[in-house]
Amino acid sequence: MDLKVENGCIKEDNGLGWGKSLPVQSVQEIVTNGYQSVPERYIQEIKDRPSSISSESLQASLQIPIIDFSLLAKGDEHETRKLDLACKEWGFFQIRNHGVQVKILQTMKAAMAAFFELPLMEKKKYAMGANDLEGYGQAYVVSKEQKLDWCDLVALKTLPLEQRNLNFWPLNLPGFKEAVEEYSIEVQKVAEEINANLSILMGMERDGLKRYQGELKQLMRMNYYPPCSSPDLVFGVSPHSDGGSLTVLLQDDDVIGLQIKHKGEWIPVKPIPNALVVNISDAIEIMSNGVYKSIEHRAITNEKKARISAAAFAHVDDELEIGPLDSMVDDPHRPPMYKKIKYIDYIRQVLARKMDGKDHTDLVKIQT
Ligand code: OGA
Ligand code: NI
Repeated sequence: MDLKVENGCIKEDNGLGWGKSLPVQSVQEIVTNGYQSVPERYIQEIKDRPSSISSESLQASLQIPIIDFSLLAKGDEHETRKLDLACKEWGFFQIRNHGVQVKILQTMKAAMAAFFELPLMEKKKYAMGANDLEGYGQAYVVSKEQKLDWCDLVALKTLPLEQRNLNFWPLNLPGFKEAVEEYSIEVQKVAEEINANLSILMGMERDGLKRYQGELKQLMRMNYYPPCSSPDLVFGVSPHSDGGSLTVLLQDDDVIGLQIKHKGEWIPVKPIPNALVVNISDAIEIMSNGVYKSIEHRAITNEKKARISAAAFAHVDDELEIGPLDSMVDDPHRPPMYKKIKYIDYIRQVLARKMDGKDHTDLVKIQT
């Protein structure tokens, strides 16, 4: 099928799922084949390139909130206040004692590594189709001109279990399905407990967000960032905010790559072994009427080591409308700051554009 690209956006098509991405070469293949210098399409404009991290940013990195999930689950007031502040001021935090067994985390990491180690021909059996963003490939490639990220990925709808498209799953890779299934169920429990806490903080009952979001769906994006000979010229993932509701990221314990924007500076998120990184995504920013922030983040690469991560995006039911919650609107002091929009329409708008900072939420912001 022909893709219609207009003004840098893929034109919407009837029968479309969440969106689509133009096929491009695997970065892992470029690296395996050997290259003299980084191909032009991956080299960012000078103004966009990842700058080196200042000592102030390294200091700030130590202040990224760390939440003890076991206390949160017990309703500990101090920890709940910490969560509130983390979502207001940082939009990102790490969680310890999250209850997901270390063995499950390790098995998930091993399963992802095994997938990306498969020969290219084998991985291509699970390539993204023309009409959706699920499968093996590169996301957010919407025009032939745009710069590309130094990253391959496989995106799978993981929950609810009955909505999986198993034809995108490498079922003959031993243990892969079981590992992803087990991890996705565990990590969704974490997302749901955080949602329950956020519901209370937003003036509702524990199941408040659930009632507005429907049964949470989950999309797992497994990222593979090969080493790059010039990490200062490329992005692993360009700056963006996540379109979903809440994201839980499992990152490599010893390769740093994730950076978040805080007070105008890029701050690295140093991995804490066996912790999970959580970030507020666009739907919760909109529902909280801008009180909780879905902030920009990006990933950088390095010369020596590949890095693998798994982003579990919790998604709202496609047909539900999202907009500022009544409990978060207080006219005239805090009028609604976002328009109401059907979730699927929002996600399609997000996925039809190249990842570019915080443009997405601006699409539904009420101009004052
Ligand atoms: C993402 C993302 C960051 C990382 O997949 O949306 O932001 O560190 N990933 O892999
Ligand atoms: Ni992200």
